[in-house]
Formats: sequence, structure tokens, C-alpha cells
Amino acid sequence: MLDKIQSMLEEVENLQANSAEEIEALRIKYLSKKGSITALMADFRNVPADQKKEVGIKINELKSKAMDKINSLKENFAVQDTEWNALDITRTAYPVGLGTRHPLTIVKNEIIDIFSRLGFSLAEGPEVEDDWHVFSSMNFAEDHPARDMQDTFFVESHPDIILRTHTSSVQSRVMEKQQPPIRIICPGRVYRNEAISARAHCFFHQVEGLYIDKDVSFTDLKQVLLLFAKEMFGEDTQIRLRPSYFPFTEPSAEMDVSCTLCKGKGCSMCKGSGWLEILGCGMVHPNVLELNGIDSTKYKGYAFGMGIERIANLKYQVKDLRLFSENDVRFLKEFEAAN
Ligand code: PHE
Repeated sequence: MLDKIQSMLEEVENLQANSAEEIEALRIKYLSKKGSITALMADFRNVPADQKKEVGIKINELKSKAMDKINSLKENFAVQDTEWNALDITRTAYPVGLGTRHPLTIVKNEIIDIFSRLGFSLAEGPEVEDDWHVFSSMNFAEDHPARDMQDTFFVESHPDIILRTHTSSVQSRVMEKQQPPIRIICPGRVYRNEAISARAHCFFHQVEGLYIDKDVSFTDLKQVLLLFAKEMFGEDTQIRLRPSYFPFTEPSAEMDVSCTLCKGKGCSMCKGSGWLEILGCGMVHPNVLELNGIDSTKYKGYAFGMGIERIANLKYQVKDLRLFSENDVRFLKEFEAAN
């Protein structure tokens, strides 16, 4: 009897199970009414009186070992079970934080989209430019203040090499290679030597447009810009053109749109005027055509240029220009819905 108890003790110690069902089967095998340990206890009656004490202790030890073992198997299994259930195998392996487009990219794409529907194609050029493409070919006089150190970043060792101050340089690069008809928009980053504040930065982004063909008129320009304004700011947007001056256009104008916030009634954004300035434009100066190899007696053209930050400000009321280049994700996340 003692030998039998001893071998069962060893057996019980090594019990293993892989499922709740297997554990239950073990419980039945050893501890149920018909289980082998229960049977041993029934046999206890037949143990000679002088061995009863020793055998009794051993049987009790076996029984409690078996119960402990089965309970601990249950516990292990329960832990594994909850861990398993907590694991969602259909979930993505790790959280993928999707980025959002930068607000300036959103607005730039919108501008490109509107003009490409009107037949304009995209043209791009270098940000580090020469004086010719930025100024001279655009009819800037030698002593024009825009060439001044105040406005332009020069490369110290090469005074002829500058950071472009407008994307008109791309217009020049296209004209020198291609004869009309030319219908392009030139988006890109431009640089001006200004103190950084909420309202000015040393770099910003522009989209300029150029159309050159026979019989291009100011009316065409006005119609295209009106359509742009309505597409960009809404069907009820109005425009007005004020006379202005640029070396590369004649006549030149600045265009205002009816205030996007108060719809022209007058508010703090439009400083009570009901109008917001958004771009410069005009008929391409004949000198610009000639300087870039286009016959000004045969062809005419119009050009316009706008700041993307300015348009984005009017659309989203961004109060501080610096936010556009600080890469603060809290700011960028605000444009998730516009993506
Ligand atoms: N190049 C001008 C600027 O940078 C914008 C402009 C482009 C104005 C074309 C008129 C015509 O301010």
C-alpha cells in the first residue's frame, strides 16, 4: 500500500494538461467518487491497525498534493486563457500613426488643381538662382530696390547667385526655352530678407501664373482670376482690381477678394473694408517678352502671383505665419479633415 501511494505521489507531481478538458479528466481520474485516490481511501479500512497511522498520513498527503496540483494546473491555464483572449490577432501589428498633409501643401494642391482645369501646366525651377532669371530678365532696373541687400539673400562669394525672391524666375526659364502658347503655373518656395514675426518670414511660398499667346487681353486675366477666387473661396466671392506697379507687368493690378469671414460687411480680419488683398497681376511687359526671346509685336500675355500662406490664412484663419514652419504636430493635426 505504501509503495502504491508513493508511486501515485510521483505520478501526481508530474501531471500536465493542455486544456480545461484535460484538467477536468485528471480531476475525475484521481479525485472523483470513482477516482483512484478515493478508491485508495476506501481501501484504508483493510490496512492493518499498526500501519494505519503511517498510511493515513501518506494518503492525506497524496490527496492534498493531487488537489493542489490540479488547482495549480487550473490557475496556469486560466492565466494563459485570459492572456490569449486579451490578444486581438486581427489587430494591426503596431499602431501606425498616419501623417497629414501640411496645410500649405493642401492649399498649393488646390490652387494647382483649379488652374490645371483651366489648361495651365506645372513648371518648376531652382530656389538658388542667378540675378538674370530673378531680376534682369524680369525688367528690374539695375537700381531697383528689390535687388537691395534688405530684400534679397545673396551668396557671399558669388554676388550673382541669390535665393529667388519670387517664382517669376521660373516664368523666365520657361520663356527662354519655349515659344508661345505658354500657359503655366509656377509653385515654389521663395526667400526674402525680412525679420521673422507673426506677419512676415524669411521664406514663404508662391504660385505664379503666366499665359502668353496671340490676342491675350486683360479681360481674359480678370475672368480667370474671378473663376479662381470663386473656386477657392466660394461661389459668392467677388473680386476687385486696384492699379498697382510691378516692373514686369504693364498695366499692373492688385486683386482683392470680398472678405471670406464677413462676406464684405466689414470685420476685424478685413479691417472693416470688406476686402482682402490676395495677389498681384498684370499684362506682361513687352520688355519681359523681348528679354526672354519672345516677339512682343506678335504675342501678348498676362501674369499673376500669390502667396500660398496668405491664401491659407484666409481659408483657415491662421493668426501666426510662423506656425507654418514650426512643425508642431498639434497644429498640423488640425488639418486632418482637410486632407
Ligand atoms: N512676382 C510678384 C511678387 O513676387 C507677383 C506677381 C507676379 C505680380 C506676376 C504680378 C504678376 O510679388
